Amino acid sequence: MLDVHALVKTVAGGRRVLDGVTFSVKPGEFIGILGSSGAGKSLTLRAITGLTEIDSGEVRFTGADQSICRVAHAKGAELRAARRQIGVIFQGLHLVKRLSVLENVMIGRLGYISPLRSWLYGFTDAEARAAVGALEQVELASFADRLTATLSGGEMQRVAIARAIFQQPRLYLADEPIASLDPRNAEGILKLLQPLAKDTPVIGTFHQPDFTRRFCTRVIGIRAGRVVYDGSPQLSHHDLNEIYGIREVQTA
Ligand SMILES: Nc1ncnc2c1ncn2[C@@H]1O[C@H](COP(=O)(O)OP(=O)(O)OP(=O)(O)O)[C@@H](O)[C@H]1O
Ligand SMILES: [Mg+2]
Repeated sequence: MLDVHALVKTVAGGRRVLDGVTFSVKPGEFIGILGSSGAGKSLTLRAITGLTEIDSGEVRFTGADQSICRVAHAKGAELRAARRQIGVIFQGLHLVKRLSVLENVMIGRLGYISPLRSWLYGFTDAEARAAVGALEQVELASFADRLTATLSGGEMQRVAIARAIFQQPRLYLADEPIASLDPRNAEGILKLLQPLAKDTPVIGTFHQPDFTRRFCTRVIGIRAGRVVYDGSPQLSHHDLNEIYGIREVQTA
C-alpha cells in the first residue's frame, strides 16, 4: 500500500541526507524506524507526505479507492487527496493550544469538508460523536472540553493520536511519538498504536530499540540516509552496531 523507492536528497555542501532509502509497507505492519540523530528518519517521513522535496526516487501511495498517488511528483488536488489519507502524529506540536481538546481532534478532518463548512466549523452531530469516539479510544473522553494548553505532554500526545484516528487515514506516520515521555506514558502510547496498526499500518520513528522490540512488527534501521537493516524487531548486538555504529547499545 506504500512503496518508498530509492529516495535521494542532497543538501548544501553536497551531503546526501537521504541516500537511496527503499522499503514497502504492507497491511498490518507496525514499522519502527531506528537510527542515530540526523540519520534521516524524520526526512523519510516528510518525504512520504510530500513535505520534503527529494532529488530523485519515488513514493507510491495506494489510496482507499485503489488509486495510486506518486506523492513526490504529485501536486495540488492529487497531493491533498493523498495527504488526507495519511494521519500524522508529530509530537503534539501540531495541536492548537488555545482550542479545546475536542476541537483539536476535529481539525483532523478539516481537509475532508468543504472550505465553507470548515470555515464555519460546521461539523455534523455524527462527526462530533465520531470525534468523541476517537477521544474514548485514547481514554481522554472526559477531557473533551479542556483547554489543550493545560494538558501534560503525554495527554497532548494522546490528543494528537485521537486526531489522527478521527481522520480515518489509510496510513499513520508518527515522528518520535514517545520522545520526552516517561517509560510508563511511552508504553501507554505504544499500546494505543499497536492495535491501530492491525487495521491501518503505522510507521513510527523511535530512539528506543527496547520498545520497538516489544511493540513493532518490523524494524527499519537508517544510518547516514541509507537503510542498513530491515527485518525482525528482535535486534542482535550486531544489528544495533550496524544501525548505530557502536559496539554496545543499552537496550533497556
Ligand atoms: N532542509 C535541510 N537542509 C539541510 N540539511 C537538512 C535539511 N533537512 C534535513 N537536513 C539534515 O538532514 C539530516 C537528517 O535529518 P532528519 O531530521 O531526518 O534526522 P533524524 O534522523 O530525524 O534525527 P533525530 O533523531 O535527531 O530527529 C540531518 O543532518 C539534518 O540536519
Ligand atoms: Mg527526527
